[in-house]
Amino acid sequence: MINLIPKANRIKIENGSFHLSRDDKVYTELSLPLLTAPRGEDAAVRILKDTSLEKEEYYLKVSRDGILIKASENTGAYYALQSLRMLGRFDEGINEIPCVEISDKPSYGWRGVSLDESRHFFGKEYVKKLIDELFRLKMNVFHWHLTDDQGWRIEIKKYPLLTEIGSKRAYTHIGGWGSTKKDNTPYGGFYTQKDINEIVAYAKERCVSIVPEIDVPAHFAAALAAYPHLACRNLKRDVQGHFGGNIPVLDGMRDWNRPACMGKEETLQFIKDVYDEVCALFPFEYFHVGGDECDVSEWKKCPDCQRVMKEKGFINEYELQMMLTNSLCEYLKSKGKHMIGWNEILLADGVDESAVVQYWVQKRDANVEKFAQKGGKILMSKHQSFYLDHPYAIYPLKNTYNFDPEKYGVPKRNVIGVEGEMWTEWIAWSDKVDFMFHPRMEAISEVGWTDSAKRDYAEFISRYREYKSIYTHLGITYAVDKIAMSKGLLQRAKISRLFRYGDPDYEYKLNKKYFEKGER
Ligand code: ACM
Ligand code: ZN
Repeated sequence: MINLIPKANRIKIENGSFHLSRDDKVYTELSLPLLTAPRGEDAAVRILKDTSLEKEEYYLKVSRDGILIKASENTGAYYALQSLRMLGRFDEGINEIPCVEISDKPSYGWRGVSLDESRHFFGKEYVKKLIDELFRLKMNVFHWHLTDDQGWRIEIKKYPLLTEIGSKRAYTHIGGWGSTKKDNTPYGGFYTQKDINEIVAYAKERCVSIVPEIDVPAHFAAALAAYPHLACRNLKRDVQGHFGGNIPVLDGMRDWNRPACMGKEETLQFIKDVYDEVCALFPFEYFHVGGDECDVSEWKKCPDCQRVMKEKGFINEYELQMMLTNSLCEYLKSKGKHMIGWNEILLADGVDESAVVQYWVQKRDANVEKFAQKGGKILMSKHQSFYLDHPYAIYPLKNTYNFDPEKYGVPKRNVIGVEGEMWTEWIAWSDKVDFMFHPRMEAISEVGWTDSAKRDYAEFISRYREYKSIYTHLGITYAVDKIAMSKGLLQRAKISRLFRYGDPDYEYKLNKKYFEKGER
């Protein structure tokens, strides 16, 4: 049984195997900085440049007397090497590669995951480890959620208070959405621009592009704690410590997802200034403006917002948001970038058709379907398959693996790819991030890479069982089968209840118990 994930699109398994030794030579016509092996004409591994192949495409032939790889660019060659690494169990020190012939390229161009570092902050070393994981699974986008109500995590030189004030909170909501409990330990952290440069370079070497998300106009409370004049009412508010659920009401305002004021001229300039610095740090052609979950109740009461609405003849507050979205889309275009935003950017008609929409809501959204029918591009992150912050008891591995965009009224031709979301309200440690990711990240890699006609959940699981010993060797915490594929209804009901009220870590702790008892 072969252990390759994501499954290759064309693979022929042949008899025999090839043993790769440390001192075997590599001949390459490409320049591969991560490949440290010596080169030589008498090489066991030959990497040839074949310009007829696409950027991410590769050919790999393992025979009893050696290995042949063909690729047009480094990316394809690296993906061939990742296939070799997995087939030959290099991480386990086995290095015995079954003879195969593979012709392979991805189904979708965008195969990613996100990490929310506002709610919890994991730091540079963990982000690099995550990038290593994406690379290993032939995934190519890291969506970095760097700002939100509970913390601003990226240095902006023009507005130093964003991190001086906005990166710190006094307490953290614990116990799940329905809980009112707090941990009163102050919490904070952010990345300097130097850190960001280092991570972007690290990702580039590993064929991973990073899309930064600077969420506007809402989820902006950390920025407003630092620069309160950008809110509709100049109220002194701290960076939020609670995540939602029982939301406090202060001065007649729910203290959640606070948006910037759309009626003040300074707002757009401030966001553009911030985007200038962020765009300069991230070379990727996409930029995420957020745009989700805007609570417009302050805009309804704000004389500045209402004046603009009247001047422009807007019929509702969503048109105020659209005004911002389209200004930013134009601005990003002038910098050679495409805008991407969450599906709420479609709440008003008229959003720039070049926008990419990230479709996250659980229910079917007629606005997204209409946008797709007009040719709009969609990134798929449907809640029930891709919200990896939810316990396996709610969204088991199978939900992720069996994802099919056409089930949600979006034709495949409109889908640029798939992305798993890691929100971290209830995930405070990197070890738990790993647990929530694996093996769902493996499933996403295959949904993104392998043609849907070639995917089968039961077959994936048998390949996965050959594969998963790799986790121990890579130091990755993962969900054991009794969790990831749980069929126990009582166990699932208890985990789901505790996720919302009481103990969102219950499933993670149960996993640890199973693991210690030898369940894998
Ligand atoms: C989201 O989950 N608010 C995009
Ligand atoms: Zn306002």
